[in-house]
Amino acid sequence: MDSSTSTSATDARKTEASAKSQETLTVTDNRTGKSYELPITHGTIRAADLRKIKVNDADFGMMSYDPAFNNTASCISRVTYIDGDAGILRYRGYPIEDLAEKSTYLETAYLLLNGELPNAEQLKDWTYHITHHTFIHESIKKFLDGFHYDAHPMGMLISTIAALSTYYHDSKDIFSKESRQKQTYRLIGKMPTIAAFSYRHSLGMPFVYPDNELSYPGNFLNMLFRTTETRYRANPTLEHALDVLFILHADDEQNCSANTIRGVGSSHVDPYSATAAAIAALYGPLHGGANEEVVRMLMEIGSVQKVPDFIKRVKAGETKLMGFGHRVYKNYDPRARIIKKVAYEVFDLMGKNPLLEIALECERIALEDDYFVKRKLYPNVDFYTGLIYQSMGFPTTMFPVLFAIPRTSGWIAQWEEMLLDPEQKIARPRQIYLGEDTRHYVPIDQRR
Ligand code: CMC
Repeated sequence: MDSSTSTSATDARKTEASAKSQETLTVTDNRTGKSYELPITHGTIRAADLRKIKVNDADFGMMSYDPAFNNTASCISRVTYIDGDAGILRYRGYPIEDLAEKSTYLETAYLLLNGELPNAEQLKDWTYHITHHTFIHESIKKFLDGFHYDAHPMGMLISTIAALSTYYHDSKDIFSKESRQKQTYRLIGKMPTIAAFSYRHSLGMPFVYPDNELSYPGNFLNMLFRTTETRYRANPTLEHALDVLFILHADDEQNCSANTIRGVGSSHVDPYSATAAAIAALYGPLHGGANEEVVRMLMEIGSVQKVPDFIKRVKAGETKLMGFGHRVYKNYDPRARIIKKVAYEVFDLMGKNPLLEIALECERIALEDDYFVKRKLYPNVDFYTGLIYQSMGFPTTMFPVLFAIPRTSGWIAQWEEMLLDPEQKIARPRQIYLGEDTRHYVPIDQRR
């Protein structure tokens, strides 16, 4: 591009921006008859501007009420873009389909955190640092040993990640770039180790230490499944499938756990405590715990013949079709499409998961049924992942853990963006108080 083209493109952008900055919304308050002009930026009004709308000087001013943030932007972000109606997901502008096909999880994590794809030198350096932060302190093993044999691995992961804050006191220095970088290496490096150790603990098997010669997913599979081999080499199809699944789970813009890490991190707590809170948010069955619930649901349905009855129960509001629906995607979740392809690659190797037919029948009926069509309910990322994980030999309780490992890069990217945004402050929503007015304390012997 020559400089004149570039200048005119810049001018055009400036003109467009200035025209946009003049966009306003006029609101008339019918209580007072007064009109207010509110600026519109990026198709959004600032909730704080509503405070000008008052009945009188003593009035606190208008607020907006938006339980569960259905229509409220809580931040400006440059990390992940979703167009829910068009079924688009992009990390830093790159379509998820391209990343799933051409990238690796570690490269994608670098992209999410740094805003750009790494060059060869940067990727080498990044991989080196992550790989050299996979070991955990020996006393963390004792900590893990303290859990009951049937402890859920997500509970173990939440607690152990929180416990890392007691080891790394430098992590409190959240406004130091070097400190944030170090904690990022540690979090992304240690997450698979702690996840794998939790799994081995539940089996009563000895822990397998990280192997620096292996890829990120290859090493994880080694720590999970190695028994007597001197060197464990994962099947390349499974290693690749896991890497693709990690890419697909790396971020999902302002979901429940991203909002959690931003909210908890806004108190300026260390990143281990904030990440533990995000894992806790992910654990819920409406979020990352859904992959576990999908498999339980398919087992409960039991056979293809019983699917119509189950769908009837869903439509009657007795239960949910787990793995369906999404707050933002109102079209086929683009991740679910890629996952379905990965599923067949894994099934070709490991044999078809017997629950697949039931899942396909649920999907077939739901995509044609008015209840789901009207509500724009499509399979989400969790609908097929459980079947893949099960075929790969993971127990159901490990499914949400397999979501948490890659989401760590997205969480840290969201956390760091929040910390460095001068407009962000400690998260503190307003409320509409509808409780009792002042009451006078009644001594216990006078209470009825
Ligand atoms: N099965 C049956 N009905 C559903 C489902 C479902 N899975 N999901 C939503 N609906 C209905 C819901 O009852 C409501 O109906 P009505 O308008 O008659 O009240 C309507 O669809 C809109 O749903 P909503 O609950 O207002 O939607 P939401 O945006 O608040 O919730 C959701 C999104 C993902 C929590 C929800 O769809 C759900 O519970 N799905 C099942 C759990 C699941 O698969 N979660 C994984 C989400 S994707 C991965 C992740 O990021 O965690």
